[in-house]
Amino acid sequence: MSSSAQTALREVPFKVTNPELIPKERYYDEEFFRLEKQHFWSKVWQMACRLEEIPEVGDWVEYRILDQSVLIVRTNDGVKAYHNACRHRGMELAQGHGNCKNEGFICPFHGWRYNLEGKNTFTWGRHLFSEETLAEVDINLQPVRIDFWANCAFINFDENAAPFYDYIKPIADRLAPHNVDKLQVEWWTSSVVPCNWKLAMEAFMEGLHTMKTHPQIHAAFLPGADRYAGPRDPDTPASPLKLTSEGVIDNFVKFQQLMSDGMGGMVHATDMEVARDLQKTMKLPQDPSEAIAQFQVAMHDEITKRARAKGIPMPDLNEIAKIREPLRRYCFPNVFLLARFGNMAAYRIRPLTAETTLFEIWSLILYPEGEKRPRPIAPTPIAPDDPSYPEIPLQDYSNLPKQQLGLHSTSFKHMVLSREVEGLISNYQRLIDGYLAGESEENLCQASQITSAGLDWPIEDIGFGPAPREVVRGEAFSTVVKVRA
Ligand code: FES
Ligand SMILES: [Fe+2]
Repeated sequence: MSSSAQTALREVPFKVTNPELIPKERYYDEEFFRLEKQHFWSKVWQMACRLEEIPEVGDWVEYRILDQSVLIVRTNDGVKAYHNACRHRGMELAQGHGNCKNEGFICPFHGWRYNLEGKNTFTWGRHLFSEETLAEVDINLQPVRIDFWANCAFINFDENAAPFYDYIKPIADRLAPHNVDKLQVEWWTSSVVPCNWKLAMEAFMEGLHTMKTHPQIHAAFLPGADRYAGPRDPDTPASPLKLTSEGVIDNFVKFQQLMSDGMGGMVHATDMEVARDLQKTMKLPQDPSEAIAQFQVAMHDEITKRARAKGIPMPDLNEIAKIREPLRRYCFPNVFLLARFGNMAAYRIRPLTAETTLFEIWSLILYPEGEKRPRPIAPTPIAPDDPSYPEIPLQDYSNLPKQQLGLHSTSFKHMVLSREVEGLISNYQRLIDGYLAGESEENLCQASQITSAGLDWPIEDIGFGPAPREVVRGEAFSTVVKVRA
């Protein structure tokens, strides 16, 4: 586990030396970006597509990460992945998506052909080549490692990386009861955001920004319920609501409605129907805490019941509510799954250049078992300030270009992180340093398990690199962070 057992770790420029401070160059320095490409994106398991994108045999979709392109194709023998480069002179065989059931892939340059298994089935003018240059192993498509989770295909360019499940075990196990493998796309949208990919991710790793970035959500917190506010913070909300049972339920329903309107995907319109129906009919106990507890149980019950009546494989939401382990929402390196009432919003964040990022958002819901859904197609990116976005991502996106510019200020050296609630940012940033330095597979794997955690997470010891200070979380937060001996 200890990095001292290793030899020849590489020097990492702008590395995180204090877990609470993140050097700003990591977000725009071209050399750092190049190192990420060389040592990080070439080694991590990364989500290549959702499996509904390729429902039929022959369906394929292209996954692009920086200068690498991969074709993911459904064959008679499962889903496979191939490097998207013709073995003759390197042409990309296909771009976008399509179906090649009957013909396989045909190179648009000189017509070499490949079947779904990646085998070369035709080389035009074969007699004109030296036979030894056309050995089968050399002219078949080159496979890419592939594995599956959450109804998605994940690929890895590194033959020596540990199995995918070893990387994701805690989050995969935590989300399994949510039927994460059965979720399907309701809608999908994307934008090119003018900021570094890590900056884009970090906008969604903590709730500390709610007070200023999402004032409508903040205003809906009940008095004393803002766990971020200290006793003398001037913006601590003074709610006009009285703490009666009715007032608390009304506030709860309004809050869910704000989330539903503002985020789409996470709290679905059908969930709101249930909430409003119950609000009208449910007899509440006088004690407000008892009332909210009973209301949530009833809401979980009713959502589960109504969904199952339609043949939807809804898990028992009250059983899920009993799970004590905190919800994990971030899957290292670049995927978020935000579970709520049986649906999820999901994000995937990919670098385009050092200072531009492709940000995708999905609404994922459970559909009746066996219902045939249309094949989702990757959307054309829209502007990050496109008014069709719900309010919450619009607010989050609006910060990012300004933050990216601010990082360049000569006065600014490093980000300062809250050790209690901005720890996720520190944890995955230090894990990136592990990749850039060439830490052992075992260390990377274990750190990835630790890092794929929830939002508002504390800074944790990821097993290598600078050890964090001990964090004993305040009353609002329950985790006590262990510190390496
Ligand atoms: S590059 Fe593909 S057939 Fe020539
Ligand atoms: Fe936000």
